[in-house]
Amino acid sequence: MRAVIPAAGLATRFLPATKAVPKELLPVVDRPVLQYIVEEAASAGITDVLLITGRGKTSIVDHFDRQPYLESKLEDKGDAKRLEAVRHPSELVEIFTCRQHEPLGLGHAVGCAESHVGNEPFAVLLGDEFMDEGSPLLPSMLDLQARTGGIVLAFVEVAPEEVSRYGVAAVEPAEEGLRDLGEVVKVTKLIEKPSPDEAPSNLIVVGRYVLPGTVFEAIRRTKPGSGGEIQLTDAMGLMLDEGTPVYGIVYRGVRYDTGMPLGYLQAVVQLAAQRPDVGPAFRQWLAGFVASSDGAAGG
Ligand code: G1P
Repeated sequence: MRAVIPAAGLATRFLPATKAVPKELLPVVDRPVLQYIVEEAASAGITDVLLITGRGKTSIVDHFDRQPYLESKLEDKGDAKRLEAVRHPSELVEIFTCRQHEPLGLGHAVGCAESHVGNEPFAVLLGDEFMDEGSPLLPSMLDLQARTGGIVLAFVEVAPEEVSRYGVAAVEPAEEGLRDLGEVVKVTKLIEKPSPDEAPSNLIVVGRYVLPGTVFEAIRRTKPGSGGEIQLTDAMGLMLDEGTPVYGIVYRGVRYDTGMPLGYLQAVVQLAAQRPDVGPAFRQWLAGFVASSDGAAGG
C-alpha cells in the first residue's frame, strides 16, 4: 500500500515561522511533525510514501535521507542513541517525491500522485495532523476500503461554529457487517468549508483518506471550488454522486493538529508530557507554572 503526503502548501497560518522553514519540519519535542506522520503510515504497514512538495521544501526530503558525515561523527563518539535517532527516519519507509508546481489546491496536489500511484487504492495523510500512536485509525480505514472498494474518510465531531474551516459530511448508519471496524458511517453528501447554516452535520473530514485510483479521473473533472482551489472534497463529492460508495470512521482518540499555532502548542505540551525522558520534569514544571500563573491572573 502506498501513501501520499501533500506537503506543498504555503502554510500562511504559521507565518512568519514558515517563511523559510517548511511547517512539516517544525519540531514537536525533538522530532519534526512530518516524522510523526510517516511513523503513523509505517505502523499501518505502508512501505512507500510519495511526498508532494513545492518550492522551498527540499529540506523535508533531506530529513528522510541518510546523513553519512553526521552518522560517522556520532559513531566515532560512540553515541549510539543519537546515531539511532538520526538513522531512524531513513529506515521507516521508502520516500519518493514529486513537485506541485503551483499551489492550486489539495485536490490538485493529490492529482500529482497519479503516475506514481497508478490505479491502486492508496492512503492520503495530510502533512500537519497525526493521531496518537496509542489509538491509530489508519489500519481500520485500510481494512474498510478493502471491504467496500470505495472512498474511506476519517471524521471528528466538532462544535457547530468550527465546521466552516473543514470539509463536512452528511451521514447515515453503515451496514451492520462493517461496524466491527469502529464507529463506521455511510456518507450521503460532502461539502467543503460550508457556512454554519449550510453544514449538514458537525462531522468534519480530517486528514486521513483511503482512495481508489479512480479519484484521479474525478480530480481532472473538478472545477475550482472553495478559495478558488481544486478541492479533494469536491472530487470525492462527484464520485459519491456517481455511485462510488463513501464510508467514514468517526475517530474519538487524540488527534494532534499542528497546522495552526494553538494546535501546535497543544501537541508539543501533550507529547512532551508523555515522554519518558523529559516528561516527568516537564510535567512538574508545567503544574507549577500553571498554578503560579493562575494565581497571578486571579490576583
Ligand atoms: C483540508 C481539506 C478539508 C479538511 C481539512 C482537514 O482543508 O480541504 O476538507 O477538512 O484539510 O484538516 P485545509 O486545511 O487545507 O484548508
